[in-house]
Amino acid sequence: MINKVKGTYDLLPSDIYIWQYLEKFIKELYQKYNYKEIRTPIFEYSNLFHRDNEHSDMVTKETYNFKDKGNRDLTLRPEGTAGVLRSYIENKLYANNRLVKLFYIGPNFRYERPQKGRFRQFMQFGVETLGSNDYLIDVEIIKLAFETVKQLGLKQYILKINTLGDKQSKTNFEKALVNYLTPFYNELSFDSKERLTKNPLRILDSKDPNDLKIIKNAPSLKDYLSDKSKESFENITKMLTSLKIDYEIDYKLVRGLDYYSDTVFEILSTNPNFGSQTALVGGGRYNSLVKELGGPEIPGIGFAFGMERLVESIKLEEISLPKEKTLDAYFITFDPKTKKEAFKLQALLRDNGFITDLNYLNSSFKSQLKEALSEEAKYLIIIGEDELNENKVTVKDTKLETQEKVKIDNLVSYLKEKLNV
Ligand code: HAM
Repeated sequence: MINKVKGTYDLLPSDIYIWQYLEKFIKELYQKYNYKEIRTPIFEYSNLFHRDNEHSDMVTKETYNFKDKGNRDLTLRPEGTAGVLRSYIENKLYANNRLVKLFYIGPNFRYERPQKGRFRQFMQFGVETLGSNDYLIDVEIIKLAFETVKQLGLKQYILKINTLGDKQSKTNFEKALVNYLTPFYNELSFDSKERLTKNPLRILDSKDPNDLKIIKNAPSLKDYLSDKSKESFENITKMLTSLKIDYEIDYKLVRGLDYYSDTVFEILSTNPNFGSQTALVGGGRYNSLVKELGGPEIPGIGFAFGMERLVESIKLEEISLPKEKTLDAYFITFDPKTKKEAFKLQALLRDNGFITDLNYLNSSFKSQLKEALSEEAKYLIIIGEDELNENKVTVKDTKLETQEKVKIDNLVSYLKEKLNV
C-alpha cells in the first residue's frame, strides 16, 4: 500500500460539504466587498520567494524547491501574496492608478514539522489590495477578516493588531533592538542568534523561556514610531472601535514574513482544544514589496486564512452548516429489464432537475433499500414487472412511509409537485 505524503491529508466525501460551504461563503462575502478572484500558478521561479530581503524561516528553510528538466529553479508556493503580486506586476494591473482588490483560494506548500493545524500542503484563502495607503483600506481589510469569522458564527477568537511603523520607524527600532540584544548574544536561543543579524524583529516572537526573559526589558516598538505612523494607527484603532470590532493591541505581534511594515494583525482561536497553532488568519501592509518584486512603488495590504484551521474551528464550536443536497429519488429494480427501464426514467428525471441514482450492482431488494436510506433519498421509485405492465411505477415517500402508483407519463409532474422543483 502506498500512503499519503507526511503532512498531507485526504478530504473525503463525508467532510467535503464544510469545504464547499466555506468556499461559497467566502466568494459571496468577498464579492460584497468588491474583491475579484485571481488564480495564479502553484509553482513559480524560486527567486520570487527567495529574495535578498526575505529571511523568514518559511522562505529560507521551509519551501519545496526543485529543478525542472530545463534546469530552472522552481518552488512550490508557500503562500499566496508573492505570486499574486508577480501576476499584478506582469499583467500591469496597476495601469491607470487603479485600486485593485483581489482574492484567491488555493493550496500552498511548506516543509514544516507537521502537527495539529500545521500541514505541508494546506489551503489558504486571502485578499490583496494594491494601490492605496489610505488607513480606511487597512480598516476594510481587518473588518473583512473579522466578518469572515463572525458571519460563520464563530465566537472563540481574538483579533490582535499592531503597527511595525513605516520603513524608517521599523529600521530605527530594529537598530535599537539589536543594540539591546547584542550583549545577551551568548544567552539567546539558537534561532534567535541567527535572527539577530537577519531578522531581529522575529526574536520578539520567540517562545524560548530564556529569550522571553531577555525580551521582557527590550525596547518597545511603540516608542520608535514616527508621528505619521502613530497617527495612522490611531485612526485605524478609532475606526475599528466605532465599527464595534473588538481588538487587542499587541506590541509584540511582528508576523512571520519579512515584507510587512505598518499595520499587522492576526485572528487567533481561543478554543482550549485548538492545539498550539492558533492563528486562523494573518496579514498586514507591505508598502515596499511591489517595488522589490520589480514593479512600481505601490502600497499594498492583505491577509490569508488557513482553511484547515477555520474548518477545525467550525467543528470545535459545533457550528451546524447546511449539508449537501441528498437524493430526490432512488430507483429500486428487480432484474435487467426493470433496471433498463429505470435507467431511461432516471435520465428523464435528471434532465428535469432531480437528483437521482440507482443500483448498478444487481443487489437484493433489501440492499437497495438500505442504500437508498443511507443516501437519505426522499422517494423510492420501485419498478417491478407488474408496474411495467401497467406503465406505472410505485413511488414511496421515505419519511411519511406512504406510497402510490403513478403513471410513468405523470412521474415528472408528480415529483415536481411533491418536491417543489
Ligand atoms: P502566514 O501567517 O504565513 O501569512 O499564513 C496565513 C495563515 O495560513 C496562517 O494564519 C494559518 O492559518 C495558515 N497557515 C500557514 N502555514 C500553515 C500550515 N503549515 N498548515 C496549515 N495552515 C497554515 C501569509 O501566508 C501571508 N501571505 C498572508 C498575507 C497576505 N499577508 C498579506 N497578504
